[in-house]
Amino acid sequence: MTQASAPGKCILFGEHAVVYGRPAIAIPLPGLRATARVSDLPSSPPARVRIEAPDIRVNGWIEEVPFNDPLRRVIELTLQETGPPPNGLHVDVRSKIPIASGLGSGAAVSVALVRAISRHLGAELTNERVSSLAFEVEKLHHGTPSGIDNTVVTYERAVYYAQESGPEPFQFSKALPLVIGDTGVGSPTREVVGLVRRAWQQEPEALESIFDQIGSLVGTAREALLSGRIRILGELMDRNQTLLEALDVSAEMLRALISAAKAAGALGAKLSGAGRGGIVIALPPGPQSGPIEAALRDAGAVWTYTAEVGA
Ligand code: MEV
Repeated sequence: MTQASAPGKCILFGEHAVVYGRPAIAIPLPGLRATARVSDLPSSPPARVRIEAPDIRVNGWIEEVPFNDPLRRVIELTLQETGPPPNGLHVDVRSKIPIASGLGSGAAVSVALVRAISRHLGAELTNERVSSLAFEVEKLHHGTPSGIDNTVVTYERAVYYAQESGPEPFQFSKALPLVIGDTGVGSPTREVVGLVRRAWQQEPEALESIFDQIGSLVGTAREALLSGRIRILGELMDRNQTLLEALDVSAEMLRALISAAKAAGALGAKLSGAGRGGIVIALPPGPQSGPIEAALRDAGAVWTYTAEVGA
């Protein structure tokens, strides 16, 4: 049996604008993982693959899974890379990452699967190759992905990322506590990315100006993370949220959680990921995140989590 895992992720600043070439900052969430386990099915003919993924409700032989299902796609892409297996394969996937929440569950499952299958078949792929296979699958999740999710999940490092220059891993001057609250409203990234694309086609200048403002704020955030200026990060999160509201990717429930976190003392808060549902992130003023988590739950969050990020 061969096992591999990959973390969830969270975008600190710059979602959506990153699809249009501006930079964004994302961090891995090492405590929230997807795990893939691969073993031989000796009695089965080669290349027959059985998938068991109860957390994402997939169970059966690969050919029974819809052709454009991301799990099927990632397994087939990996087998194209490694060549067909000598035996049938049993592929088991478990994930603790909430789905369609902005936490990178799709990318984490893809990266864990690429690594487990390729290692099982004796082909260790480079991180670059792992990330690019996961990127192909992100197209099913996102439509027109920027590549940030597969990158941060593969390298498991905080990254400053722009499509043209690629990932620039960096270490924050000090680790940050970050509180996450899930609205419980599933929001497929592909749909929200599509809404923004239609708005951009209709009003390119207005949208480009918002993307520019987000891009410049991301640059300031990078400097603040490198120099440990925490308070300004809170302000930047609030400004980024205002710009995401202007892109019309926010929602009532997201605003309710953001207000609750701020009322409980958060220095700043914003949606994270595609928006319209999914998660909010909030920056506590110190190491105590309990009051913010409690306020998020009181305001209706179905799940809360505190991570130390950027260490
Ligand atoms: C999704 O995690 C982030 C988006 O910017 C889409 C992308 O970058 O592919 C909304």
